[in-house]
Amino acid sequence: MQRLYAIVLAAGKGTRMKSRKKHKVLHPVCGKPMIEYILDAISHLQAEKTVLVVGHLGDSLKEALGDRVLFAEQTEQLGTGHAVMQAAGILEKEDGITLVLNGDHPLFTAETLQKLVRRHKEEGAAATVLTAVFEDPTGYGRIKRNSGGGVDGIVEHKDATEEERAIREVSLGTFCFDNRKLFAALAHVKNDNAQGEYYLPDVIGILRDQGEHVSAHILEETDEAMGVNDRVQLAEAEKIMRRRILRKHMLNGVTIVDPENTYIEADVQIGADTLIEPGCSLRGSTVIGEGCRIGPQADLADVIVHDDAQIRYSVIERSEIRERAVVGPFTYIRPGTDLGADTKAGAFVDLKKAKIGHGTKISHLAYVGDAEVGEKVNIGCGVITVNYDGVHKHKTVIEDGAFVGCNVNLIAPVTVEKGAYVAAGSTITHDVPEGALAIARERQTVKPGYVEKLMAKHAKK
Ligand code: UD1
Ligand code: CA
Repeated sequence: MQRLYAIVLAAGKGTRMKSRKKHKVLHPVCGKPMIEYILDAISHLQAEKTVLVVGHLGDSLKEALGDRVLFAEQTEQLGTGHAVMQAAGILEKEDGITLVLNGDHPLFTAETLQKLVRRHKEEGAAATVLTAVFEDPTGYGRIKRNSGGGVDGIVEHKDATEEERAIREVSLGTFCFDNRKLFAALAHVKNDNAQGEYYLPDVIGILRDQGEHVSAHILEETDEAMGVNDRVQLAEAEKIMRRRILRKHMLNGVTIVDPENTYIEADVQIGADTLIEPGCSLRGSTVIGEGCRIGPQADLADVIVHDDAQIRYSVIERSEIRERAVVGPFTYIRPGTDLGADTKAGAFVDLKKAKIGHGTKISHLAYVGDAEVGEKVNIGCGVITVNYDGVHKHKTVIEDGAFVGCNVNLIAPVTVEKGAYVAAGSTITHDVPEGALAIARERQTVKPGYVEKLMAKHAKK
């Protein structure tokens, strides 16, 4: 078996993105940096070594990707051919097949790359280029074919004649090469062109002139073909990827009521028979169980939702929502919350770093933060854990079966023990013992006939 290597180009300035700080290939498509899609696809092919050519903003790529790839530096951006040459130190002496890809093509699937490699092997080619036929080929390199249909070379848009620009078959910047022949041919690439750059696509013409067999594989699935050079294309790529992600979930048994208004990022997992209502954004490492009902309008980032939970009109971040919990409408659950099974967190409830036990109800208008709440607790309307003294955060503990009445302030650190009751309107500054009732509010004073006397006083004046 021939060994497989991969070179991914990402040293360019990405000028057309007009980004000051973010590297082009780190811009996310459906929540995941473009470059990661490419590396994921390559990893399916089990490449022996993957070299990422970096230059402009290269440190950010090294930081983001760590040891997933080997890095080669291109200190001056002299073109894609020059960029590939920078991998010579790592790959030049290897025998095998080298896949070369641009870092700005996030939509290729592993199957497509596999097909390209297979085609290359079957034909025993020195080089195979991946092509597509575009309605509007503007900007792409055009494939020049001879009368026999064979590939003669590639001409860049900026160097093409009017006649060549009419060609609709384009190079996708994705190639398979015989590794040794690639590096040998690169030595012959010149920069006498419109951009004064060393073009990788020129290798095709060079090998062809040397009498080598050059092949092409036409990609039929054109929604994989687009490259991302600017933010208009970024949005188009996002749309294509979004549909692909939604389709995968629907085929896995998830009902998505309105795919046009549902945003699910690449790594989100959803169980069968879950219903996703319109207006949901499910992000990051979110995992949703089976039989859940999510939305309308739920924004979940890095949330684990267990089976049969329901979440409507709510925002949840880095938290866990357990079986059959009912959240919303209008609930804000912040990082570090663990909402137990069979619980309720209702309208205008704000939870932060709170562990809420099985069967507990927080139905409306409450703030519970830095708290540990037991099982079957009732938290009334307007309850507030007063967790912050201006300098430090303090913890509130409410044990199993406790009942906290409406409009109660719990000044932390404080504990309401098992089964204790806290009267409505209390401001609790000391622990409430098990089974006790705490009332901490001014006693009501009643002045009989007061209003009548007051009116008489006014009348005199
Ligand atoms: C390139 C191809 C074009 C093809 C198109 C497909 C060349 C000359 N042109 O055009 O034939 O149709 O991709 O999308 O190859 N890069 C470097 N170093 C450099 C220059 C670029 O690493 O000196 C990297 C970029 O970061 C990018 C990739 O190479 O990931 C392609 O460069 P880009 O400028 O986007 O080329 P295109 O104009 O899209
Ligand atoms: Ca490009």
